[in-house]
Amino acid sequence: MALDIVIMAAGKGTRMKSNLPKVLHKLAGRPLLLHVLDSTAGLGAARTLVVTGHGAEGVESAIAHSAAQPVRQQPQLGTGHAVQQVVPHLSEHGTTLILNGDVPLIALSTARALADACAGQRLALLTITLADATGYGRIVRTGAHDSGHGGRVLGIVEHKDATTAQRQIREVYTGMMAAPTALLKRWVMALENNNAQKEYYLTDIVAMAVAEGVPVVATHAQDETEVLGVNSPLQLADLERRLQRRQAEALMEAGVRLADPARFDLRGTLEHGLDVEIDVGCVFEGCVRLGNDVRIGAHCVLRDTQVADGAVIHPFSHLEGAQVGAGALVGPYARLRPGAKLGPEVHIGNFVEVKNSSLARGAKANHLAYLGDAQVGERVNYGAGSITANYDGANKHRTVIGDDAHIGSNCVLVAPVTIGAGGTVGGGSTVSRDTPEGQLTVARGTQVSIAGWKRPVKAPKK
Ligand code: UD1
Ligand code: CA
Repeated sequence: MALDIVIMAAGKGTRMKSNLPKVLHKLAGRPLLLHVLDSTAGLGAARTLVVTGHGAEGVESAIAHSAAQPVRQQPQLGTGHAVQQVVPHLSEHGTTLILNGDVPLIALSTARALADACAGQRLALLTITLADATGYGRIVRTGAHDSGHGGRVLGIVEHKDATTAQRQIREVYTGMMAAPTALLKRWVMALENNNAQKEYYLTDIVAMAVAEGVPVVATHAQDETEVLGVNSPLQLADLERRLQRRQAEALMEAGVRLADPARFDLRGTLEHGLDVEIDVGCVFEGCVRLGNDVRIGAHCVLRDTQVADGAVIHPFSHLEGAQVGAGALVGPYARLRPGAKLGPEVHIGNFVEVKNSSLARGAKANHLAYLGDAQVGERVNYGAGSITANYDGANKHRTVIGDDAHIGSNCVLVAPVTIGAGGTVGGGSTVSRDTPEGQLTVARGTQVSIAGWKRPVKAPKK
């Protein structure tokens, strides 16, 4: 039986007080709407329709690479009006699952349970009982009014339209439902907007179902986090912490030792070996892989980076698009930029920047240095303050440093240039021609001392 998914994402999100459409605000580094698409991808839906309106261009380009199809709603006259727009695109029969673009953490199992509860025949509502139900649509049942343990569902009444007695109800509609597609189409086209907000309320179809004798079932959500919506920066941050906590717990269950799960942020995926330790305040973005026995010091940022077994990243280091070899030491205060490839046992110290460069086994750059577009041999010692002058203002050039070479402090290696293996470059040299293997190369003014030289004295006042 066909399953269609409709994700409503046309609303303005006024309370975010932002120019960015609400569903594009990021949770764990990913737009809210894409979380919804991710978590429903496993349902095998015939089609996924995203209702866009406010900031439509931005929202549509964010989903351009997914299988979802945008449908414009212009203007936005309410959730019922949103579903009216997708009616021509829905299947003839089957089930339509309606979700919200601003409720990002809905679990696949819950979405599936909701669709199964509908089974193309019943109207299934996802509900939850809240301590404070202010602002939500209330589930009105026959009999008891408070907990959700009352009788049959009669309808949903929006907070603004609710009587004082109805406002005592704590069972609320989460904004997610599954409806028989053919009935849904007919119901939403019959909606009216004579209510407090002059909107077409999708929730009014519940009373229509009841009037026609179509069974209405309320599926209770297991976990509050998966039905929480984002309406304000505070709610976004609250959801972020909940998601981060969940990710941190999963990693810790898999053996990763986080110094503090409350001070950990993963915005992507983190693969890891055994005995990995991560200190406080680290941020992992994109795809990060950590081998066995890796230690990450406090306040490091790692993006799209691989760290091999036994390597240590000391505090306050920033690694992006880098590969760190086994047993390497990096930081504190190191910066590895895209294309930095450190071999085993390489040392990169404080205030050293490496970009698009490889360092072979045992090479060291321990202080205040820059290596860009360089190929550095084994056991090279690259002195403090030295840089590769890799850019001539128009093009980038490569620097090659042979095995066992020593580059003194404060050298400028003007690329393209090759430093011969085993050679030494004297401190303060500006090297613009290739140097021979095994020799000392010094390229700086010769030191002179002038006997009898006198300092200038001030001219007497006239
Ligand atoms: C809605 C429900 C309410 C429920 C609550 C849960 C209705 C009438 N009410 O209220 O019962 O408790 O969600 O969070 O459905 N949207 C559009 N086009 C529109 C209006 C809204 O696409 O014209 C989208 C929004 O972007 C959002 C979703 O629909 O993703 C919900 O809209 P919102 O205005 O937040 O509805 P609520 O008033 O919260
Ligand atoms: Ca809402």
